[in-house]
Amino acid sequence: MKMETSYLGLELSSPLVVGANPLTERIDEIKAMEDAGAGAVVLFSLFEEQLTLSKAELNDLLAGGGGKARALATMPDHGRIQMGPLGYLEHIRKARAAVGIPVVASLNGSPRRQWTQYAKLVEQAGASAIELNLYYVPTDPELEPRALEDAYYEAVRSVRREVAIPVAVKLNPFFSNLVYSAQRFEEAGADGLVLFNRFYQPDVDLEHRTVKPRITLSHADEARLPLRWIGILRDRLKLSLSASSGVHNAHDALKMVAVGADTVQLCSVLLRQGVEQIRIIQRGMAAWLNAHDTDLASLRGSMSQHNAQDAASFERAQYMRTLDSYTTP
Ligand SMILES: Cc1cc2nc3c(=O)[nH]c(=O)nc-3n(C[C@H](O)[C@H](O)[C@H](O)COP(=O)(O)O)c2cc1C
Repeated sequence: MKMETSYLGLELSSPLVVGANPLTERIDEIKAMEDAGAGAVVLFSLFEEQLTLSKAELNDLLAGGGGKARALATMPDHGRIQMGPLGYLEHIRKARAAVGIPVVASLNGSPRRQWTQYAKLVEQAGASAIELNLYYVPTDPELEPRALEDAYYEAVRSVRREVAIPVAVKLNPFFSNLVYSAQRFEEAGADGLVLFNRFYQPDVDLEHRTVKPRITLSHADEARLPLRWIGILRDRLKLSLSASSGVHNAHDALKMVAVGADTVQLCSVLLRQGVEQIRIIQRGMAAWLNAHDTDLASLRGSMSQHNAQDAASFERAQYMRTLDSYTTP
């Protein structure tokens, strides 16, 4: 079964891409991902704080120091943070030397930060593409939503100007009008959008009266948010779309392709069950396509909002009907 896929202008052997996660800190795991059939690997992120803080400040913050420690405390993993910007460039080099599949570097930070210089270094280190994970939690009541959104587009535009490799943007789902924003990202030069970044919400420890970071792996239901938005965006944009959140098996992955995803990113399933899942999911996809006498290219986008029999299902009409369909036990 042909599983070749074009993503960000790169030719991939499979639509299954490993999403940014801590397994990519190890070169042997990245090799295992390639062996299991991954089309590409997105490396764990380099955080903006790693570029702006000195090593001493960073260590102090990781040890629970004050000030910006609050921001760092919500980061998913502290071990890799010690790698630092130079270590991250070295990791890209090693990963590229170890595997033939594209290796995507991930830069994670506020849209209001200048990413251009480091983006250039990441390109020089051999990254096949950049995934920009723009993450910001606005709490300033004076900050106009428009100004913040413009900062997102400008961040992408400036990185795009600086590098020749493709640039994808990993989005959060909280834009007021995602279709508008997605089009602005496309105009700013993004080669692809990844839907969606998962927000790691803080939790409260009642006993100690502290706010703690708590990372949870995804549930299958979480796939429905990117499923809806990829379906809505597919026929409105030319750029690549990649699904991320809640894809745990072959059916989940096929559904994402059906609404229009070019690639499907796997993370929680690999952390729970190991990278061999890539092979299992890929085989499951091929078996389903064979059994239904179709192929990936024909399935792709066949159930986007534009192509779906019931286009309204992607919008508000769905809401009333869904609530109405519930029967109390
Ligand atoms: C432990 C862990 C670490 C992660 N690290 C990153 C990261 O460094 N950069 C990033 O963009 N996303 C990161 N993610 C988010 C994943 O790439 C992915 O978008 C998210 O988990 C949703 O996909 P899933 O449902 O397959 O897990 C991380 C997720 C987990 C669970």
